[in-house]
Amino acid sequence: MARNQQMVPVRVFRFDPKTDKKPRHETYHVPIAGKTVLDTLQFIYENHDSSLSFRSGCAGGGYQRCGACPVMVNGKPVLACAALIEPEMTIDPHPKFEIIKDLVLDFAKANKRTKEIKPTVQIEVDREKCDGCRDCVLLCPLKVFDLRKIRGKTVSIPSDQESCCGTTCRQCVVFCRNQAISLIPVQSRAR
Ligand code: SF4
Ligand code: SF4
Ligand code: FES
Repeated sequence: MARNQQMVPVRVFRFDPKTDKKPRHETYHVPIAGKTVLDTLQFIYENHDSSLSFRSGCAGGGYQRCGACPVMVNGKPVLACAALIEPEMTIDPHPKFEIIKDLVLDFAKANKRTKEIKPTVQIEVDREKCDGCRDCVLLCPLKVFDLRKIRGKTVSIPSDQESCCGTTCRQCVVFCRNQAISLIPVQSRAR
């Protein structure tokens, strides 16, 4: 590590349900320049505490995103491999799924805590363009979409928008064959 690299404190959620009575946050000092949230977790693992648990698969290579790394940064849902580190940062587990340990989630066990999330995007599906192919339902790592029959036509509905990792993910937008999905940043909608 370069000696003059700027370091910032980062608070990280820690909880092992098997041994801990309650969750806590630990603070670590990490380099900020050009790093993603996933790089930061990796740095902590290698330099501070190898007991920190988190997931990574593809490490964000292009749009080959595996969806393994959803976390909350300052209350907003992001993919850790795609979001850049911020100077004041608290990293928490994404609340859509049960916690196995620290930031590792059990994707088979959804819970109902997504109301805690401040959504970063509004998802819109153009029902004229959608042909109900189900691709978005299957590939969304946060299970945001359901298929519903509306006026005799099967279409995708973004039924759990709060969970979406928004512009750090965009898997559904990129892979929808009919360009039926739009992500609209919440801030620009409010203006
Ligand atoms: S991927 Fe596109 S066309 Fe297929 S169900 Fe989803 S929105 Fe509809
Ligand atoms: S951008 Fe699309 S695929 Fe990614 S989490 Fe949001 S809804 Fe799911
Ligand atoms: S590690 Fe694959 S999406 Fe982040």
